[in-house]
Amino acid sequence: MALESSLSGKVAFVAGGSSGINLGVALGFAEAGAKVALISRSADKIEAAAQGLRDAGHEAFGLAADVRDFAAIDVALGETVKRYGPVDIVLSGAAGNFVAPASQLSANGFKTVVDIDLLGTFNVFRASYPHLRKPGASLIAITAGQAEQPMLNQVHACAAKAGVNMVTQCLAMEWGPEGIRVNGISPGPIADTEGMRRLTPTGEMEAAYKATIPLGTYGEKRDIADLAVFLCTDHARYITGAIVRCDGGSQLTGGSQASFNKPAER
Ligand code: HXC
Ligand code: NAP
Repeated sequence: MALESSLSGKVAFVAGGSSGINLGVALGFAEAGAKVALISRSADKIEAAAQGLRDAGHEAFGLAADVRDFAAIDVALGETVKRYGPVDIVLSGAAGNFVAPASQLSANGFKTVVDIDLLGTFNVFRASYPHLRKPGASLIAITAGQAEQPMLNQVHACAAKAGVNMVTQCLAMEWGPEGIRVNGISPGPIADTEGMRRLTPTGEMEAAYKATIPLGTYGEKRDIADLAVFLCTDHARYITGAIVRCDGGSQLTGGSQASFNKPAER
C-alpha cells in the first residue's frame, strides 16, 4: 500500500505537535498530502515546528494552545476550519511524564500529568466534534504501555494513559454511528524523544531496556507516523476502538520495569 498522497485533500489537527513523536506524525500526515494544524503550549516551539513543515513544502500552521484549556483548543480548531475547512484527522498526543515514586509525588504532580494526558485527550476530541467532517473522520490518541502495565514510579502516567485508552474506546462506541473512527496508538520506546530521555536517561538504562525488546531496538518516529497515516486511510475503514501497539514487542516482556525503577534527577 502506498501511503504517498493517501491523505490528499484532508485536514489534520495535531495536539502536542511541536516535537517528538507527534511532530513526526504531523510530518507523516503532511507527506501523505494533508494540510496540518499544530498546537502546543509554546508559541515559539509550535511556530518553529510549523515553519519546518512549510520549509519542506507542506501546508501547515501552528497556534499556541494548552490542552488543559478547552476554550483555547476550540479557538485553534475554529482557525483550522477557517483556513483549511472541516477537520478529517485529529491526533491527541500532548503528554507530560517524569519518573517519580508515589511517596515523593505531590497531589499536584499527579494531577498535572492526568490533566495533560487524560483531560487533554477528552478536551481535544470533544472540542473537535462539531468541527469534524462526518462521516469519515479519524481520531487517534497517542497512549503508552503504561495504560496496561503497572510500572514502578509511573503511577501518574499509568493512571492517565489507562484513562486515555478508555476515552478512546468509549468515544469509538458513541461516535461510530456517525462515521467517526477513534483509535489509539501505543508506541514502544522511540529513539530521540523527550519521553525516552526522561525514562532511560543513561546509556546503561537504555541498553538494559533494549535487551528486553523482542526486536532488539528502539523504534523510529517514522514507525508511528506510518501507522497513524494508515489508520486515517480507507484501508482502515473497519478499524475503530482499537489500541494498536507499535513497539517492537516491548510490551510483551515488561522489560521497562528494569529501566524505570530509579527516579531520575530533577
Ligand atoms: C516529581 C514533579 C516532577 C518530577 C514536576 N513535578 N516534575 N514531581 N518529579 N520530576 C511536579 C511539580 O513539583 C509540581 O507539583 C507539578 O508536578 C507541576 O509541575 P509544573 O512544572 O508546574 O507543571 P507544568 O509546567 O504544567 O509542566 C508539566 C510537566 C513537565 C509534566 C511537569 O515535565 C512538562 O512540561 N512535560 C512535557 C514534556 C514531556 O514530559 N515529554 C515526555 C512525554 S513522554 P507541586 O506540588 O510542586 O506544585 C511520555 C512517555 C510515555 O509521556 C511512555 C514512554 C514509554
Ligand atoms: P515530547 O516531544 O515532549 O512531546 C510532547 C508534546 O506535547 C510537545 O509538543 C509539547 O509541546 C506538548 N505538550 C505538553 N504539554 C502540553 C499541554 N498541556 N498542552 C499542549 N501541548 C502540550 O514527547 P514524546 O516522547 O515525543 O511523546 C509524545 C507522545 O508519545 C506522548 O503522548 C507520549 O506519552 C507518547 N509516548 C512516547 C513514547 C516515547 O518513546 N517517547 C513511548 C510511548 C508513548 P510544548 O512544550 O510546546 O507544550
